[in-house]
Amino acid sequence: NAEKPLRGRKMLVTAGPTHEPIDPVRYIANRSSGKQGYAIAAALADLGAEVVLVSGPTRLDSPRGVTRQNVESANDMLAACEAALPVDAAIFAAAVADWRVASEADQKIKKKEGRLPSLSLAENPDILATVSALTQGRPALVVGFAAETEAIIENGKAKLARKGCDWIVANDVGTGTGTFGGDENHVFLLTREGVEDWPKQSKDAVARDLAARITTFFQGVDV
Ligand code: PMT
Repeated sequence: NAEKPLRGRKMLVTAGPTHEPIDPVRYIANRSSGKQGYAIAAALADLGAEVVLVSGPTRLDSPRGVTRQNVESANDMLAACEAALPVDAAIFAAAVADWRVASEADQKIKKKEGRLPSLSLAENPDILATVSALTQGRPALVVGFAAETEAIIENGKAKLARKGCDWIVANDVGTGTGTFGGDENHVFLLTREGVEDWPKQSKDAVARDLAARITTFFQGVDV
């Protein structure tokens, strides 16, 4: 079907930040709004894909035709992603916290005169690397993002190699770019074939272009 070339394909998209609890009222988070990931989920659904959107806390409405799973922490996001498998393609646009607080306090941490609390951190699971490394049921196409504030292409290439995914969408998230939370994004698409510098454009346009590339990828794949 020319209009819905992804009909019959199942795709997983992650979006938004994660919230890593400190105590019942506080958490560690980041500035991701979820806009880029939601736009990708919407663009894939428009092309006919069955889309599961695993979303950290955002203020966004669910895109039309997308199944949304809400999660808070990185550990929850990993579990929801694993539950969504198998899929044909997985696109990891979420800004997953690298660290969580090692032990979440059961009660609100009290302010004590003259004493500052200290937080000890533990490493979160790497969802992208975990899914990329699956020997059984690995998606045919695994796309990661790289959020960088310097040496965007070099750092993106290093992530492509280290995480074992197929493509990396590298974006500059430095101060003043507005990439986190804004409506536009300037991305580089890194594949094993090379680097493409896409123009700065709306996140919706980035999503449509990425969805078109994913469509081209699956035109040659008989799975
Ligand atoms: O949400 P918006 O406001 O629209 O902003 C969009 C965005 C900047 C968040 C998005 O375009 C983006 O770059 N997302 C990835 C953010 C990120 O955490 O990048 P990273 O370089 O730290 O991580 C690299 C990749 O590994 C990402 O695909 C990430 O989802 C994944 N990851 C990271 C850590 C972890 N524990 N598990 C992961 O799966």
